[in-house]
Amino acid sequence: MKKLILSLAVSLLCFKGFAQDYVPTPENLQARQEFSDMKFGIFLHWGIYSMFGQGEWYMQTANVDWREYEKAASAFYPVRFNPEAWVKAFKDAGARYITFTTRHHDSFSMFKTDQSDFNIVDATPYGKDVLKMLADECHKQGITLNLYYSHLDWRREDYPLGRTGHGTHRDTTKANWPSYYAFMNNQLTELLTNYGKVGAIWFDGYWDHDQDSVPFDWQLSQQYEMIHKLQPSCLVGNNHHIEVFPGEDIQIFERDVPGQNHAGLSGQAISRLPLETCQTMNGMWGYKVTDQNYKSTDELIRLLVQTSGKGANLLLNIGPQPNGELPATALERLKEMGEWLRANGESIYGTTAGDLEEQPWGVTTRKGNALYLHILNLDSNTLELPLSCKVRSATVLNGNAVKFKKNKTGITLTFDQKPSGVDYIVKLITK
Ligand code: GLC
Repeated sequence: MKKLILSLAVSLLCFKGFAQDYVPTPENLQARQEFSDMKFGIFLHWGIYSMFGQGEWYMQTANVDWREYEKAASAFYPVRFNPEAWVKAFKDAGARYITFTTRHHDSFSMFKTDQSDFNIVDATPYGKDVLKMLADECHKQGITLNLYYSHLDWRREDYPLGRTGHGTHRDTTKANWPSYYAFMNNQLTELLTNYGKVGAIWFDGYWDHDQDSVPFDWQLSQQYEMIHKLQPSCLVGNNHHIEVFPGEDIQIFERDVPGQNHAGLSGQAISRLPLETCQTMNGMWGYKVTDQNYKSTDELIRLLVQTSGKGANLLLNIGPQPNGELPATALERLKEMGEWLRANGESIYGTTAGDLEEQPWGVTTRKGNALYLHILNLDSNTLELPLSCKVRSATVLNGNAVKFKKNKTGITLTFDQKPSGVDYIVKLITK
């Protein structure tokens, strides 16, 4: 029986085109650890879609003809784009990496590519490679650069039509997977050759083909292998919303912390790979002129804390404006998160999920012999902790000692006052 299940699993994976022998290199394993330790990154959705001010799905939601859509490129001139200021703002916010949309579903490349004229250098009056400018600045200021890359495409006629992009008026008889696959691999080669060290390639769009009705072979295995050959420490992640495939180095969750599924995209099992949750700062990924639905700084800090409590990273999104500026509210949030992280970052960076699963009162993180209790919601001045480890001391982070007493199942903490604030952090030193 066991054998049968095993061979079924193997044939399923082989059917999906996966080699069974992916062994991450030592550089790759080290990069995974570094990725996990970073805990906080900034996602950037920026493209010619920003000009319409309707989010990055505008071409699809408004069924824009691809020939008409293309014309926007000839007016894209982000006169206020200042990569130095962007990167500084991200670093000051406490982010350790950024993930930049190099080519989204609308097919426009935000980098100089020889594979298509529909790119920032050849198709816009701006004429400068914004990715190169950003990459240089990231390397200079010491922040990791990860690259988002869309598998699906709403404009190219060689892309085999999937679930979306039916209203962009392509001649679907021209679909040609080998041509499109070669195009993507050539672009990925450019990305991994011309921009220095890349921390990760972040794929999106797998879900455009409904694998249950008509299985579609994306040939991911060879593509992942190519990436690992070009830059062995480059991590591969895929926002496919299902369980991880061989060849992937990180696991991505969209809009939910691992283990939760409010948005309906995160029912997949949690793997042992480094985890990342991406979330918007307001409602949309790409710039949307009417979207002022920003989460408060307190909400964002708690999101980061809750994500860390799951051992995952938070990739927090900003949609830059078409003129190249970051929205003022986003900048304000970044500044405030930075202030909080400067004071409390020791309980976030370099931690793993703590000893206790999420509790009604909050979450825990651990680093070495320090166990951090992030008390988010406690209506009492005592807290019982079912801990199996021995506790040597308890202090409020950057503050006074907290009384604690051993009990049968762990310890009881007693506070002078009920813990309050955005995140009341207690640091326990354990044996
Ligand atoms: C979804 C959307 C896409 C966005 C991504 C970010 O997959 O299709 O627009 O880039 O989520 O997680």
